[in-house]
Amino acid sequence: MSKKTALITGANKSIGFETARQLGGLGYGIWLGSRDAARGDEAARALSAEGIDVKAVSIDVTDEASVKLAAARVEAEDGKLDVLINNAGVPGQMVPPSQQSVNDVRDIYETNVFGPIRVTQALLPLLRNAGSANIVMVSSGLGSLGWLSDPDNQFHGVNFLGYNSSKTALNGVTVAFAKELAASGIKVNAADPGYTATDFNGHSGYRTVEQAARGIVWLATQDNDAATGSFYFDGAVVPW
Ligand SMILES: NC(=O)c1ccc[n+]([C@@H]2O[C@H](COP(=O)([O-])OP(=O)(O)OC[C@H]3O[C@@H](n4cnc5c(N)ncnc54)[C@H](OP(=O)(O)O)[C@@H]3O)[C@@H](O)[C@H]2O)c1
Repeated sequence: MSKKTALITGANKSIGFETARQLGGLGYGIWLGSRDAARGDEAARALSAEGIDVKAVSIDVTDEASVKLAAARVEAEDGKLDVLINNAGVPGQMVPPSQQSVNDVRDIYETNVFGPIRVTQALLPLLRNAGSANIVMVSSGLGSLGWLSDPDNQFHGVNFLGYNSSKTALNGVTVAFAKELAASGIKVNAADPGYTATDFNGHSGYRTVEQAARGIVWLATQDNDAATGSFYFDGAVVPW
C-alpha cells in the first residue's frame, strides 16, 4: 500500500502549519500549501528538519490557475490524495455588520467559501483515486448558528457579518459535498479549531495551535466507517 498523503492549504504558519506537523508525525506525506512560494519553502524546510516528509506547493485558494497547477503537480507526483484540509482563511474587517462593506464581505467569501469549493473540486479526482479519503473544512464556532443564537454561549456577542456568515456558508458546503461523496468513500466534515492564539486574532486566542490542530488531525485520520457531514470541536459534535 502506498504512503498516505495530505494537502493542507494555508499551511505556511499557525494552525495549518501545526496540522502539517502533526499529520507528518503520523507518517503522512505532506503537501504544504502556501500562497507565497518563499513562505511555503521556509515552512517546509522547518518541518523537513524535524524528519517530516514534506513538499511545499504554491496554492492561492482564490486563484483558479494556481489551484489547477497545484492539483496537476500532486497528480503528476502522487496520482492520488488521501486527505485534503481546507484550512486557509481570512477574518476580514472586524466591524459591526452595518459598517462592513459588501466588497469586504465578498473578499472574505472568496477565500473562506469559494476557496474551499474550488480546491475541493480540483482535487476530487485525486481523492477518488485514493479509494477512501477525508476532507476537513476548517470552520469556526463563529459559524455555528446554534451557538451564535444562544445567549449563554461564549460567542453570542461576537457579531461579525462577513467572517461568521462565511463559516456558516462553509458548513453548508460541507454538508453538500458530504452527501454527494458519501457513496464513494470520501468523508467530508467541518472542524472548529477553537479560539486559538495566531496572527489571525493578534494572538488573543486562549488555545494553542497544538490543541487546535489535534481536532483537525483527528477528523483527517478517521477510518472508512466514520461519520460524514458533521461539525466537530475537539472530537465533539457542534450544532450547525
Ligand atoms: N485562530 C482562531 O482563533 C480560529 C478560530 C476558528 C477558526 N479559525 C480558522 O482556522 C483557519 C486557520 O486560521 P489561523 O488562525 O491559523 O490563521 P492565520 O494565522 O491568519 O493563517 C492563515 C493562513 O491562511 C493563509 N491564506 C490566507 N488567504 C489565503 C489564500 N487566498 N490562499 C491560500 N492561503 C491563504 C495564510 O497565508 P499567508 O501567510 O500568506 O497570509 C496563512 O497561511 C482559518 O480558516 C480560520 O478561519 C481560526
